[in-house]
Amino acid sequence: MGRKKRIGVFISGRGSNFRAINEEIKKGGINGEIVVVISDNPDAKGLLYARQEGIPTHVFIKEKAEKRDDYFSRIMVKLEEYNLDLILLAGFMRVLSKNIINEYRNRIINIHPALLPSFPGVHAQKQALEYGVKISGCTVHFVDEGVDTGPIIIQRAVPVYDDDTEESLADRILEQEHKAFPEAVRLFCEDRLTVHGRRVYILEK
Ligand code: GRF
Repeated sequence: MGRKKRIGVFISGRGSNFRAINEEIKKGGINGEIVVVISDNPDAKGLLYARQEGIPTHVFIKEKAEKRDDYFSRIMVKLEEYNLDLILLAGFMRVLSKNIINEYRNRIINIHPALLPSFPGVHAQKQALEYGVKISGCTVHFVDEGVDTGPIIIQRAVPVYDDDTEESLADRILEQEHKAFPEAVRLFCEDRLTVHGRRVYILEK
């Protein structure tokens, strides 16, 4: 296996996916290390965990008038110091700019709490309940210029029950996110993902 991949994680809140991935790394299940955590929110709970773990954190607050490209350019300057192989969007609540997507083409992975292409964007679990689907789940995908439109790496399904609330469905999906996201990161870090158009192929070991 090659050298350990250098991973940057972007968060906006709780950071439970970040934690699940970091725990898998600590167990030796992923050939990578999280070298930096970026947040757009100074109060993100995930920052506390990063600090406990001794992972460098940087908060970038977007100014109201600031253009998206300029905001992400500031972040990219900082990222240069870390020489990243992979960026993970783990509950990062902003749409990325074109310049960062181009710079890290097929090296940015997002987790979304629905079975894409159904229910992209915010409040995916609420959208699923309101639509009345009987199955939902999560999708791990590469990030392209659209919102939740990039090539799909892994999906995991969960049932939707009659008495589900947004919270109960979100909890059931989150449990699967904590398996699917580390799994996708593991595959990436073993150089086992190849992208052809919309399709992501997983190479056998
Ligand atoms: C998850 O449901 C993820 O799918 C969505 O935002 C939530 C983040 O949760 N993009 P956490 O911060 O990882 O706990």
